[in-house]
Amino acid sequence: MKQGERLDYMKKVVMPRMAELFQEANPTRYADMNCATCHGAGARQGHFRMPAPDLPALDPSDGFAAHRAELPEVMTFMSEVVVPEMARLMGERPYDPETGQGFGCFDCHVKK
Ligand code: HEC
Ligand code: HEC
Repeated sequence: MKQGERLDYMKKVVMPRMAELFQEANPTRYADMNCATCHGAGARQGHFRMPAPDLPALDPSDGFAAHRAELPEVMTFMSEVVVPEMARLMGERPYDPETGQGFGCFDCHVKK
């Protein structure tokens, strides 16, 4: 896809679908979900490079143990809802730890 087509796809397909899922998980927090929710503040200046340094950096050690202890519900939402649906929307497979291939956490988040 060319840059213009990607923008269009994000606006018309990705944004509405992901907003629906985030709002289902947390209606208050994501009441006004927008491009910056994923892309960070730079989205307002037209910067959409991923992963987004503004999202919380993740520590993957021991199967994300620190994050699982702190935010178990968010972890379940991210791995069972966000990754599979976003992968589907991007026409990619969800991340497979066996092969190291596919769309996963570190296509959005940076590593701690
Ligand atoms: C749910 C999270 C999410 C939301 C919301 C979102 N995006 Fe994205 N966007 C992504 C991801 C993830 C990628 C990178 C996909 C990949 O790995 O190829 C991306 C890629 C892009 C790209 C291509 C960037 C590049 O370097 O080629 C553009 C442009 C873009 N998004 C624009 C937008 C716009 C405009 C909005 C709001 C209408 C938006 N995005 C909302 C997650 C999101
Ligand atoms: C499509 C982009 C995207 C993908 C893929 C993604 N996340 Fe997220 N993640 C987000 C967004 C957006 C937030 C919420 C930001 C907010 O609420 O301000 C978030 C929040 C989190 C948080 C909460 C952090 C905190 O301190 O508040 C954790 C933990 C997390 N994600 C873990 C993961 C894990 C683990 C994966 C892979 C299984 C993953 N994420 C995949 C976009 C993504």
